[in-house]
Parts: sequence; structure tokens; C-alpha cells
Amino acid sequence: MVQETHVSAANLIFPLFIIEGENQKTEVSSMPGIFRYSVDNLLREVESCMNLGLKSFDLFPNIDESLKDKMATESYREESLYLRAIREVKKEFPEACLITDVAMDPYSSDGHDGVVDNGEILNDETLEVLGKMALAHARAGADIIAPSDMMDGRVGYIRKTLDEHGYSGVSIMSYSAKYASAFYGPFRDALNSAPKFGDKKTYQMNPANQREALIEANLDEIEGADFLMVKPALPYLDVIKLLKDNTELPIAAYNVSGEYAMIKAAVQNGWLNEQRAITEVLTSIRRAGATAILTYHAKEVLLNKWL
Ligand code: PBG
Repeated sequence: MVQETHVSAANLIFPLFIIEGENQKTEVSSMPGIFRYSVDNLLREVESCMNLGLKSFDLFPNIDESLKDKMATESYREESLYLRAIREVKKEFPEACLITDVAMDPYSSDGHDGVVDNGEILNDETLEVLGKMALAHARAGADIIAPSDMMDGRVGYIRKTLDEHGYSGVSIMSYSAKYASAFYGPFRDALNSAPKFGDKKTYQMNPANQREALIEANLDEIEGADFLMVKPALPYLDVIKLLKDNTELPIAAYNVSGEYAMIKAAVQNGWLNEQRAITEVLTSIRRAGATAILTYHAKEVLLNKWL
């Protein structure tokens, strides 16, 4: 009666990794229980999640090295793995909520989220690529576009591009406060998308900063974001709370790959009780103020009826 916070299937978004091929399902070694699926198997995975009441998915592609280039052109090629996957999922499951990731890194030969010139990230040149990518996702059927690149001005640029092409109904979930974090390591293993040089500190946020998140969030809100996201989740619960108290927009939090890997590693060693640890983490992210949680635990908590 007096419990203040609940987590339900409606709050969860399941990130899914996709790979080329047929009947493929390969486990990510640093993320036990998480797989990369070829499109045919992706459809079956989405179906089994939908049967558990899990309806929202965020897709991430593992792109063959030979298709990567400096301008990430593979990201908007009509027959690319990613666009095919979006079309197939929306064709078979129109009622699924499909969130798509906009950033150059999975397709970039430099492994960065933006265009690189002489070791520097070119913010404004990147916006054009992001616009093409977002438009291609919308055309393929995406419900929500999620720019994870952290370039300045990209929410406004993407909003304008979508509106001009008749996609005013497609929402934007902006990665507003995305920190330059150590906790993305397993994700970069999953996609083979680690930066080829340097780090992401010129565009992702300094973990030492809290107030700066308000600047990023305000800009995204003014530019037309429909959701504001904080990422990672657990080390930044204060930032989730801060944004929650300063906006009327829904807040999303990304319980990232490294947070998942930590729990799985401890559980495998018999050091933590899995059910209790996972439900405590998800509850704390909701308590801090997130409405939506992107989490690799989404399916298992429903399958095991842990909520
Ligand atoms: C890249 C992107 C990253 C994640 C989502 N989109 C990694 C990065 O910024 O290097 C991380 C997700 C996770 O760790 O689970 N645009």
C-alpha cells in the first residue's frame, strides 16, 4: 500500500543487437545471455518478447568492417542490414514500438560518432549525416529516433529534417546527458565499434559534471526532443533526478552494457543474488525519476516473473 515505486513491462525498452546472415545467434562474450541476431532470428526474439508484454525495442547493428567508411554512408543505404531489420520488424509487428539509434560509430571507419578530420570531430558536418540517417530510419518505419551521438544542435536538425519530409509523427528520444563512460566497453565489443584512436571526451560529458546536464537537457527540449535520456544510469542517478525536477518531459535512462556485465559477473561468481540485485537496480532507476529504462535485463525479468 505504501510502496512508492513500481517497475512494469511498460517501463522497459530492450536493446537488441543485429548481425548479417541467416539463422545466426552469437553471444556477446562480455554480456552473458545477450546475443546478436540475424534478421530472421531477430523477428523470433521480438515475438517472444511481445508475448511477455515487452513492446519496446532499440536496435543496434554490427556492421562488417568492409562496409565502414569515413562518412558512414552504410547508415542510410536502402538495403543495409539496419534498414532491412526495421522494415521487417515493423511489417511483422506493427504494434511494436521501435526505437532506432542515430550515430555514426557502428558504420564509421574511425569508430567515432561524428565525422573525423585530422583527429578532430566536425560537429556541423556530422549533422548532415545524422539527418540522412534519421530520415532513412523514419522511412523504414521507426517510431522513435534516438540520437546517441552528442553533437550540438542535432535534435533541432533532425526534428526539422523529419518534419520537412512528412514525418512529424516520429518522436525523438534524445541522449541528452550522455557521459564519456567506462561502462560502454561490452557494447563496443558487441558491435565492434570502439574508436580507432582517441576517446569520445570532446563530445560526451565529463563524469564530474552535473550542472552541465541541465544545459544539454534545456537545449534538447528547446530543439524539440520528446524524451530526455541520461546514460549510463546507476552512476548518474543524481542526474536523472536533476532532469526529472527540471522538465515536464519524460525521462529515460540507459542501464548500459557495463552495468549489465558487472551484475552478471558477480552472479556467475556466486557473489550476488541475481533476482534481488537486478530488481533493486531497476527500482532505483525508476525511483530516481526515469519513466523508461533501456536495459539488457528487460526480457529476463519478465521471463522469470521477477517484477
Ligand atoms: C554509440 C552508443 C554507445 C552506446 C549506445 N550508443 C556507445 C558509445 O557511445 O561508445 C552504449 C550502450 C551500452 O553500453 O549499453 N553511439
